[in-house]
Amino acid sequence: MLRILGLALCSLLTCTQAEPGALLRLGMDIMNQVQSAMDESHILEKMAAEAGKKQPGMKTIKGITNLKVKGVQLPVITLNFVPGVGIFQCVSTGMTITGKSFMGGNMEIIVTLNITATNRLLWDEETGLPVFKSEGCEVILVNVKTNLPSNMLPKVVNKFLDSTLHKVLPGLMCPAIDAVLGYVNRKWTNLSDPMPVGQMGTVKYVLTSTPATTASYIQVDFSPVVQQENGKTIKVAGPGETFAFPEGYAKVSSQLLLSATLLSSELALLQKSFHVNIQNTMIGELPPQTTKTLAGFLPEMAVAYPKSKPLMTQIRINKPPKITMKTGKSLLYLHGTLEMFVARRRGKTTTSLFLLEVHFNLKVQYSVHENRLQMTASLDRLLSLSRKSSSIGSFNEKQLTGFITDYLEEAYIPVVNDVLQVGLPLPDFLAMNYNLAELDIVENALMLDLKLK
Ligand SMILES: *[C@@H]1O[C@H](CO)[C@@H](O)[C@H](O)[C@H]1NC(C)=O
Ligand SMILES: *[C@@H]1O[C@H](CO)[C@@H](O)[C@H](O)[C@H]1NC(C)=O
Repeated sequence: MLRILGLALCSLLTCTQAEPGALLRLGMDIMNQVQSAMDESHILEKMAAEAGKKQPGMKTIKGITNLKVKGVQLPVITLNFVPGVGIFQCVSTGMTITGKSFMGGNMEIIVTLNITATNRLLWDEETGLPVFKSEGCEVILVNVKTNLPSNMLPKVVNKFLDSTLHKVLPGLMCPAIDAVLGYVNRKWTNLSDPMPVGQMGTVKYVLTSTPATTASYIQVDFSPVVQQENGKTIKVAGPGETFAFPEGYAKVSSQLLLSATLLSSELALLQKSFHVNIQNTMIGELPPQTTKTLAGFLPEMAVAYPKSKPLMTQIRINKPPKITMKTGKSLLYLHGTLEMFVARRRGKTTTSLFLLEVHFNLKVQYSVHENRLQMTASLDRLLSLSRKSSSIGSFNEKQLTGFITDYLEEAYIPVVNDVLQVGLPLPDFLAMNYNLAELDIVENALMLDLKLK
């Protein structure tokens, strides 16, 4: 009863929200890349160049003609998180304004100023992407110097400059803030685009809600959508396990957390790629794959096949692969069938010897290569083996444990690793380079500690 009530409440309240499958924390280290956005976009220089041109609607400085802005100093940008809002931005810069003064003669005004604005972080409903929007842009004059004749009263000068600069500068400088934000916003453009997982399907990092700003980071929650090539969405059975950022990371740093559930759904796309037929007689360190070798484990074989014949093995994975993560250890569970055949010469049908149901797990190691998550697997344990059919009479499948374990290790795991080489796509935002990330397996998730250099 309570449970039903809980569920009813849940559907009325926020519990209907999709389970996040990935979490991203953007610390000040990444946000400080806005600084480089300002440099890259040369926005202040462009503004200064524009200022020289006559533009409709632009106020002029009364008494100064032939106005030009030159020598814009490299801006120093200071950012602070504003909880619940976004980022407070202060751009400190300086410039020289030249012109002909009303007194005649050339004049120069050297100003240092701060441009401040609050960059509110929103969720653009149309694109589903995060977007910064500036509010309340102000220009604060820090220092003003002129080459005006010293016989002019400083008071008059100050009054003149204050009123005129205060009128002119916001119109001149505030568009720079918007232009830089536009530049940053464009770097989210591809965030929710479908990205290929091999040839089998795609993953799309869709935002769950408006990104949340705290005093030390911005958190973006994703409900990734994993889709097969035919458009069918993969749903992992059962409730998503809870996962969270571990404590104790530096306040300025940034991390990405990918749930085991998300990785399982991506591997589900690859399920069919794990199917394989292996017909080589010589494989790695294994004894020759023949009926004679098999007879060493199953005496029944010697009777049925007195003459040694090569074997063919077919492995089918018939349940979606599942990833689990416990602090420091990640396992990939595969469940399927292994069928052994006696290979025949061309044109003849093969004969099935037996079909075993197998369940085994692999230890997974993660790395990042070319901005994709790479996995490398090695056999951890053969969990169960049961005989489903046999053409050589009944036998105890336990006799084959060693043989099958070695077979999986030498013949099958390399196939799995080949399939895993496709790599899993990581969220594409702010031109993030994941190659320096430090990886850590935590409870129910893989954490990427994002390093910028
Ligand atoms: C201008 O910005 C700098 C850097 O944020 C700050 O240290 C300084 O106090 C600001 N000056 C004024 C007048 O607001
Ligand atoms: C987004 O994707 C397009 C097409 O692949 C690419 O040309 C563009 O550079 C990407 N934009 C960003 C900001 O990465």
